[in-house]
Amino acid sequence: MNQTQLETITGTPPVIRPRRLRRTQALRRMVRETSLSPNDFIYPLFIRHGHDIQQPIRSMPGQFQWSIDRVVGEVRAAYQLGIPAVILFGIPDVKDACGSENYEPNGIIPSAIRAIKDAVPEMMVISDMCFCEYTDHGHCGIINQPGDAYYQPHLPEGYLLNDPTLELLARASIVHAEAGADIIAPSGMMDGMVGAIRAGLDDAGFDHVVIMSYAAKYASGFYGPFRDAAESPPQFGDRSEYQMDPANRREALKEVALDVAEGADMLMVKPALPYLDILSAVRQSYNLPVAAYQVSGEYAMLHAAAANGWIDLRRCALETLTSIKRAGADLILTYFAKEAAQWIPE
Ligand code: PBG
Repeated sequence: MNQTQLETITGTPPVIRPRRLRRTQALRRMVRETSLSPNDFIYPLFIRHGHDIQQPIRSMPGQFQWSIDRVVGEVRAAYQLGIPAVILFGIPDVKDACGSENYEPNGIIPSAIRAIKDAVPEMMVISDMCFCEYTDHGHCGIINQPGDAYYQPHLPEGYLLNDPTLELLARASIVHAEAGADIIAPSGMMDGMVGAIRAGLDDAGFDHVVIMSYAAKYASGFYGPFRDAAESPPQFGDRSEYQMDPANRREALKEVALDVAEGADMLMVKPALPYLDILSAVRQSYNLPVAAYQVSGEYAMLHAAAANGWIDLRRCALETLTSIKRAGADLILTYFAKEAAQWIPE
């Protein structure tokens, strides 16, 4: 006699048994709601001047600063693993007040883009568009300083000037597009950055270039190791005057709405794991592709715990990536990209 018959007779409700669908590996595969693919991953790379350099980044095991001649092979390897895109961060030779190497046609990133597109034309090359790696003060744009061409006496010293920064962002985006960038990813949280870059690109004939906006980027402690990797810590203050307060959720939706209105093609939430609620809200409110950035500190944290023997790196890395996708990400920027592409279970 089965339970339904039993219920009919006795009036006792059947025990609901979700475990039935978890009994075997094949059954679990049949009912799995989220799966990872190398197509989901965007691989971040740090590039510096020089030759034959693959310099380990202390706080990010397995990640390196690459010279252009060496990064090309890494990009090819990533493409062969099925990863469709890389995002590039540059370490310039010279830093100055306005970050001029960012818009120098022979600067580190335009040169790297040309070399990569030459060697692996199919790989989508994303250029992280920000000034913090290029400025001597380490902030993401032009700072109000007496004596500077942009100095505005009515504003406080050290204030990050929004609109002059927009001009330079548009200028640098055009230079990177000319070098062959497929996607520009503005990451500085300036007001109006997407609109300014879109207008600049369109005027210069690059209406095919995609904008992936770091739409909701929080002022996060989890960027710590990145500042080692890109050698870009702010020399004074922090970034909370332009990046978002971790306590705010509604404000993220406002930021996203603005970027959508300004013409963003893809959206990003950053960091990823501590902000899954934001990711989920953005996913539910918009139909554009949504990316999440599993940042340097998220990567370092998993590695540090694994190095102590406290967690299993592969299992936990895949679990975080699956969670990020389950929360709504179509794409994940992750330092695990190459390893995860090889770890993904059948
Ligand atoms: C530049 C930028 C940062 C990161 C990506 N682009 C640093 C920051 O905003 O402080 C962080 C990425 C990471 O931590 O992995 N604005």
